[in-house]
Amino acid sequence: MATTYWDYLRLDRLLDLQGGIEGDESALMSDELHFIIVHQAYELWFKLCLRELRLARDHLAEPKVPEEQIPYVVHHLRRVTSILELCVSQFKVMETLTPQDFLAFRDKLMPASGFQSFQMRELEIVLGLEDDVRLRYGGTDPLEHVRTLAQSSPGGQHAWGRIEAARGEATLKSALDEWLYRTPVQGSGPDDPGDEEVVLGFLTEYYEKLVGMNAQKKADMLEALGKITSSIEQRFADAEAYAHRFLFAEDVEPERRARARRIRAGVLFVEAYRELPLLAWPRLLLDTVVATEEEFVIWRSRHARMVERVIGRRIGTGGSAGVEYLDSTVHYRVFKDLWAVRAILLPKAELPQLRRQEAYGFAR
Ligand code: HEM
Repeated sequence: MATTYWDYLRLDRLLDLQGGIEGDESALMSDELHFIIVHQAYELWFKLCLRELRLARDHLAEPKVPEEQIPYVVHHLRRVTSILELCVSQFKVMETLTPQDFLAFRDKLMPASGFQSFQMRELEIVLGLEDDVRLRYGGTDPLEHVRTLAQSSPGGQHAWGRIEAARGEATLKSALDEWLYRTPVQGSGPDDPGDEEVVLGFLTEYYEKLVGMNAQKKADMLEALGKITSSIEQRFADAEAYAHRFLFAEDVEPERRARARRIRAGVLFVEAYRELPLLAWPRLLLDTVVATEEEFVIWRSRHARMVERVIGRRIGTGGSAGVEYLDSTVHYRVFKDLWAVRAILLPKAELPQLRRQEAYGFAR
């Protein structure tokens, strides 16, 4: 029998899933059908994002990642980024639901909410969002919320099972950290003798260059703005303290500090000397990870604006403060080092002198 379009896509099943809680599509108002289809479309895209993120993570998690494998990681992450861009623009479609029309069926959703989107939680978990970053509201952890409701809802076991399984997996963040940890810094790898001194030497030299450059900048700014604002000296002092804390991982507990420092040195090295042939793909990978996380942040922010437009500052059906809660989640960051390093990059001419340049060329 010839394959048909409708069988291949299981359209009979797919198009029979929009009946809402009553399971009767013909009884739904068109606004509610719209609401259901928009959400289902998002969940389908989330499904694909999860698959792509896991592939990116698996490529990167290998004990040794050959240079030619990095484009695959970039490829999967770019797909995720494109999907999220589309998801962001899709909120326009959601916004065609007017505030009053939504009220006609909103109450029957209670206490269901996107808060229970277990695929969104899986995405956060697979990326590597730390539990202590995730906000709690009303004393409830968002994951705990799903676990509690899972006990009384038919689909709940599945939702909670998915979250639990994701929590047992490696994350993209841990795979990336492991890979960054192995980055040669000034030609030295973590297994090379004297590596810790090389890394510390590089970081110290870098910090001194940064302070030297800031001294000139501070003098220029004081001259230009000193009469208008009094906080310039303090701002520079804060920025230097921040750079020191970041570079030497003073914000990390002592047992994990050397490792965190090496990872950060790796990020800095790739960003700073990105024109070296062997760092071209790693640098593109870091940029792609930032682009992917940026799109998640934009998604959160755009969702909050759409919510503000449709329900204003009402409390959510899931019981949160609504827009206020959603806006706070815009501060979530998974790949904090990649964001942090941007504040301390130096222009090329100010960089510490590169050592063992031959280690970063292509083999001939
Ligand atoms: C009229 C449309 C929508 C409104 C009024 C709305 C409102 C809200 C509110 C108030 C919350 C906070 C939790 C709560 O108390 O309920 C929330 C969370 C959430 N919503 Fe929506 N939403 C809408 C559409 C969507 C769509 C189309 C998606 C796509 C999947 C979505 C996904 C989510 C997710 C994933 C969360 C959890 C965010 C987090 O905890 O980080 N929402 N929504």
